[in-house]
Amino acid sequence: MRSRGRPITHVEWSRMNHILVIGGTGTIGRQVLSQLVAKGAQVRAMARNPDAARLPPQVEVVRGDLTLPGTLDGCLDSIDTVFLVWTAPPSAVAPALERITKHARRIVFLSAPIKTQHPLFQQPNLLRAMFEQIERLIETSGVQWTFLRPGMFAANALTWWAPQIRAGDVVRWPYLAAPTAPIDERDIASVAVRALCEDRHAGAEYVLTGPQSLSQSEQVSTIAGVIGRTLRIQEITPDEARRELLRIGPLPAVNMLLEAWAAAIGQPAHVTSTVAEITGAPAKTFIEWATDNAAEFRA
Ligand SMILES: NC(=O)c1ccc[n+]([C@@H]2O[C@H](COP(=O)([O-])OP(=O)(O)OC[C@H]3O[C@@H](n4cnc5c(N)ncnc54)[C@H](OP(=O)(O)O)[C@@H]3O)[C@@H](O)[C@H]2O)c1
Repeated sequence: MRSRGRPITHVEWSRMNHILVIGGTGTIGRQVLSQLVAKGAQVRAMARNPDAARLPPQVEVVRGDLTLPGTLDGCLDSIDTVFLVWTAPPSAVAPALERITKHARRIVFLSAPIKTQHPLFQQPNLLRAMFEQIERLIETSGVQWTFLRPGMFAANALTWWAPQIRAGDVVRWPYLAAPTAPIDERDIASVAVRALCEDRHAGAEYVLTGPQSLSQSEQVSTIAGVIGRTLRIQEITPDEARRELLRIGPLPAVNMLLEAWAAAIGQPAHVTSTVAEITGAPAKTFIEWATDNAAEFRA
């Protein structure tokens, strides 16, 4: 990048680089914002309801909705770089991406490991076609891009197991032997911040995982150990899970998870060292994540 004929220094780019975080009130976006604020970056967050956003005072919060394309131009005004988390419906993709790619010079998209040849990631996936469409629109738009492809979030434990652990000593769950490599949301955010602020990540696709393959049963046992409780972990059948897990998402999402876990049994989870390679710090272990989130599992 150049300014009046001379290359722009890293410090100058950091000052000029105005970043919009879309999805800043969610699990990953919130971490991205707090790490950007700690770096002194210029940050704006888009939220559907800014009054309920509860973001640090250094963050400019603006109202916008991915399903209402007319709200996006104001959010994107004077923005150089966008961190994009997409949980909106597929019908909103094309009009929103048209606006985002028109304004931004760089986009870091939170995708998924849809190209990784491991059974956990290769089952029929409702989101695959939508993520492929978003990626295609970004790639063909001419903006600089980086795709983050995290595996299972450690934070899923907050919706999957915390309510049961707070309520009693029994955790009922399907496919207990299915291994995953849960990744700490802070590590995904650390890679995102590098990609948002440094030039060297253009065109990169980073498959991000935690450092260890752990069965779902081992993950629940880790939480039990951290909070000093004895939990009974009961395997339930896929049919029972279809009835009982509707609280974590609609039936198609539950079925998607069940198929992925079923296919994953019998081989270790896919583990990468990308977090350490990009950030210089080892990916956090699940026991570290559970220790830092122990309060969420206590009644
Ligand atoms: N969970 C996993 O294990 C996993 C693994 C790999 C990839 N992923 C991907 O990660 C993404 C989810 O990330 P997350 O857990 O950080 O998200 P999250 O906690 O569910 O938060 C969703 C964010 O999107 C915003 N949002 C939702 N609808 C919106 C709309 N119409 N317009 C503007 N903003 C909207 C929400 O903002 P407001 O509601 O405040 O407006 C919120 O900030 C998904 O794409 C998922 O497929 C998840």
